[in-house]
Amino acid sequence: MRNEQEQNVLFGNGDEPLSNASSNPHINDLIEAGLSRRQVVASGAALGVMGFLGVAMPGSAEAADNPLKDQLKELLERLKKRSKRLPFNPVAVTRADTITVPAGYKATTFIPWGTPIRGSFPAFLDNAGNSAADQADQIGMHHDGMHFFPIDGQRGGGHKSDHGLLVLNHEYIDAPLLHPNGPTLVGGKRSSADEVRKEINAHGVSVVEVRRVRGQWEVLPSARNRRITGATPMQISGPARGHALLQTRYSPDGTATRGTLNNCANGFTPWGTYLTCEENWAGYFASGDTERPREMTRYGVGSASRYGWDHLSGDEFQRFNATRLAAEAAGDYRNEPNHFGWIVEIDPFAPESAPVKRTALGRFAHEGLVFAPVKPGSPVVCYSGDDSQNEYIYKFVSRSRYVPGRSNGSLLDEGTLYVARFKANGKGDWLALDIKDKAFQAACRAAGVSFADQGEVLINTRLAADIVGATKMDRPEWGAVNPNNGDVYFTLTNNSSRTVVDAANPRPANAYGHIIRWREQSRDYAGREFVWSLFLLAGPENDSLDPNGRPLTADNRLASPDGLWFDDEGRLWIQTDMSGSQLASGPFGNNQMLVAEPTTGEVKRFLVGPVGCEVTGITATPDFRTLFVNIQHPGEGSTPTDFRSTWPDGPGRRPRSATVIVTREDGKPLF
Ligand code: FEO
Ligand code: CA
Ligand code: CA
Repeated sequence: MRNEQEQNVLFGNGDEPLSNASSNPHINDLIEAGLSRRQVVASGAALGVMGFLGVAMPGSAEAADNPLKDQLKELLERLKKRSKRLPFNPVAVTRADTITVPAGYKATTFIPWGTPIRGSFPAFLDNAGNSAADQADQIGMHHDGMHFFPIDGQRGGGHKSDHGLLVLNHEYIDAPLLHPNGPTLVGGKRSSADEVRKEINAHGVSVVEVRRVRGQWEVLPSARNRRITGATPMQISGPARGHALLQTRYSPDGTATRGTLNNCANGFTPWGTYLTCEENWAGYFASGDTERPREMTRYGVGSASRYGWDHLSGDEFQRFNATRLAAEAAGDYRNEPNHFGWIVEIDPFAPESAPVKRTALGRFAHEGLVFAPVKPGSPVVCYSGDDSQNEYIYKFVSRSRYVPGRSNGSLLDEGTLYVARFKANGKGDWLALDIKDKAFQAACRAAGVSFADQGEVLINTRLAADIVGATKMDRPEWGAVNPNNGDVYFTLTNNSSRTVVDAANPRPANAYGHIIRWREQSRDYAGREFVWSLFLLAGPENDSLDPNGRPLTADNRLASPDGLWFDDEGRLWIQTDMSGSQLASGPFGNNQMLVAEPTTGEVKRFLVGPVGCEVTGITATPDFRTLFVNIQHPGEGSTPTDFRSTWPDGPGRRPRSATVIVTREDGKPLF
């Protein structure tokens, strides 16, 4: 255990620090002490509370009698609600092969892998016998990041809760389950073009128009329904567009590409578009070259690919062969891996639009992207983690300012990419990865590293971050921004390779992970300084700390926090991605989702997923009557003859990733 002094540094920065040291009663104390609302409203104490909370006080109490009462009533309702912000009984740890939610709630499966959404609406075949062409019209495999766009949210925002576009990522595939008898191999090599095409088509993103009728959700046969796959034509924008290191046989001028892969978490913009983030893409490529360039080696492109797509002949497959074969880069696919590791913007309301890879946001194993609260007239600011052991957390600040109704994705094409340095004193700073920045130039000189231009800096984002001295983190996963105060939270899922600890990553061989948070020191979030603290150390009771510095309990112990999301009222939802031994035995059970209340430090387990799954991806309707949650890879490790889970279809059926719709049984808002 760490000593008390360390704990104070790490936990000392509360989400909403208590600055009122007086013993004055809180308005809820009065209510709960038995005073009626009316008595409280009539008391001077309530007026004092109103002033403290910034409720406008009328000049003449007499003239404004009714408005004042209304304001007070509303305020009291809100305060009462806030005092019970986690009003459910936590679910226990379990290894049941089902979704478990608290009493009073229900979970319904929605759009599992293979659900037809477009074209000829090909039905899912139980034996996974659908063709590659079928798969291109069906929901992809292995659901991950997700966002609900209200149908009136075309330019951002939107309020409609009964009708919208649900957009979700499909991170990767399990070939043993995607095909009736697993992948066909001849001499250890892939031999079926249709199988590989099906795998490529099971990746990417789904856009689905959905409607809620009398509490039941359905897929509409809409022209907006879309599958974006590992082969969809896309544009490349930002400083690396047209770069020599992006030239390929498909795009000799380095401006276009095909497909997005390993789409993990997501983001969404203030102007109503979806962002999908390319995470573990390096393994899709193989290079036969013995000498590989830094933009391959620093990302782990090796001599063999994960799925063997490069084994097949034909341009659609040979693009995964990154070996130098021609005299010029425009004659082969040596640069194809440089087309991946980006954040891709998709306009779900424009089904014909080409997705755009926004290179100014950097190239790494992007987990997700989350925006700081946007302010008209200020730059947009967003954060992204690089999910690999000892990688970094980044922030992008746009050059141009946000103009509601006018700004669009081009705002993400020009700006400054920074990387985080967390200092031991609880402060931190953002280090610019900008070829025009003097400190960056000095760091390059000191390291003996040179970049020809900003495009090359971005293609080599990890190297650029190395040389400025960024803090190596314990696998940064999702980020989330508290809508009440702008605090930024990031999960650090685990890091078995950590030997040297630091204040921000305090445990060696970090098996359980933690959650860090920071507060920017500039009002527009664009500045270079922040203060940080640890929010939670995950783990069993004897090796964990909750937000109040106490051990986690049976109600909230967790490991490997991954998905992270704030609802509109400022509750923090935490999803876990434990694997291997942590799932097989021990105190954590199956992967789960918890809810934290940052203002009180309360954390409770809300949902447990089926056997072998990861819980990842979360979004809600504006009325908060529907929560969408993704269940990825139930029965992980299954084969065509051994299903380790049969969720969601039941005994004898192969497991399928799916969305789960969580509602209250009485149909009211979740909380
Ligand atoms: Fe795809 Fe970092 O989880
Ligand atoms: Ca993840
Ligand atoms: Ca993970």
